[in-house]
Amino acid sequence: MKTQIQNYLNEIDAFKPASLEEVEQFRIRFLGKKGILNDLFEHFKTVPNEEKKEFGQLLNKLKTAVQITIDETKLAFECALSDSAGNDIDLTRPVDLSAGSRHPIFQIQNEILDIFARIGFVVSEGPEIEDDWHNFSALNFPPEHPARDMQDTFFVEKNGGSDDIALRTHTSSVQIRMMEHTKPPIRAVFPGRVYRNETITQRSHCFFHQIEGLYIAENVSFVDLKETLLYFAKEFFGESTEIRLRPSFFPFTEPSAEMDISCMLCGGKGCAFCKHSGWVEILGCGMVDPNVLENCEIDSKKYSGFAFGLGVERITNLKFGVKDLRMFSENDLRFLSQFQGTL
Ligand code: PHE
Repeated sequence: MKTQIQNYLNEIDAFKPASLEEVEQFRIRFLGKKGILNDLFEHFKTVPNEEKKEFGQLLNKLKTAVQITIDETKLAFECALSDSAGNDIDLTRPVDLSAGSRHPIFQIQNEILDIFARIGFVVSEGPEIEDDWHNFSALNFPPEHPARDMQDTFFVEKNGGSDDIALRTHTSSVQIRMMEHTKPPIRAVFPGRVYRNETITQRSHCFFHQIEGLYIAENVSFVDLKETLLYFAKEFFGESTEIRLRPSFFPFTEPSAEMDISCMLCGGKGCAFCKHSGWVEILGCGMVDPNVLENCEIDSKKYSGFAFGLGVERITNLKFGVKDLRMFSENDLRFLSQFQGTL
């Protein structure tokens, strides 16, 4: 009898099932109603008392071995994964961390958001599909403004005027959403993708990324705007960076300006990159137009503020020297892998 049990133990040890079906047959053979173990336990009753101890221990050993073997072989089948080509996937293999990295646009976006977070700007986001009110009307765009034209805007629904639904053309729409549901003081940055109906070339694309900034409180002046942007330029491009503001126009800011930074390649002396001007254009900005505040039910006599909007692709190009905008959305690993671990 003992040799018989020892033979079973050897057999269990060598058991290598090829399918779950075989595991089930093994289970029935040993643990089934008319299985080997039941037989042996029946037999146990007839064993003389002085042999019971040794025989009992052997029987228990056999039972445990059977159970463990069933559990382990079953688990191995249940955990076996394969990819679409039928190759086994080993979940225990260490991850190859060099396989991916954050997209350069989002590396730069996060760096910019961090810089503003350090001076108290919170991050908020709005929808990419936007209504006429948030993208245009509340931002003081007159009804016939050219930006509302089909040539510039991708309309999702064109119902003529205030019922239109479009892909947002700028992140300024998020200013309105923020001001509609938050009481001043407001200090926030809004990153996001924007869409314009432009031909895709080396220098223009039908979608790109912006970061909008908004600060609304009592007694905010143009000096606050200038100092905030100077802080950003120095943090991002380096301590020696200078800025200049040129008068410009946006329907939602008054006065409006465009900001240049001293060319980071020649330090402002003039080179081919800055077209020998010493300056590179970076963003649009201005003091929030009182009409816009009133549209959001913010008292424009009590509160004032500034806003700015920058293009993330543009800044990424300046930082990494990428000449062709299309590279950012083509997902070419030869391009993307160059930005591994850059920030
Ligand atoms: N929304 C403007 C654009 O897309 C940028 C801007 C934002 C200008 C905020 C002024 C203030 O060009």
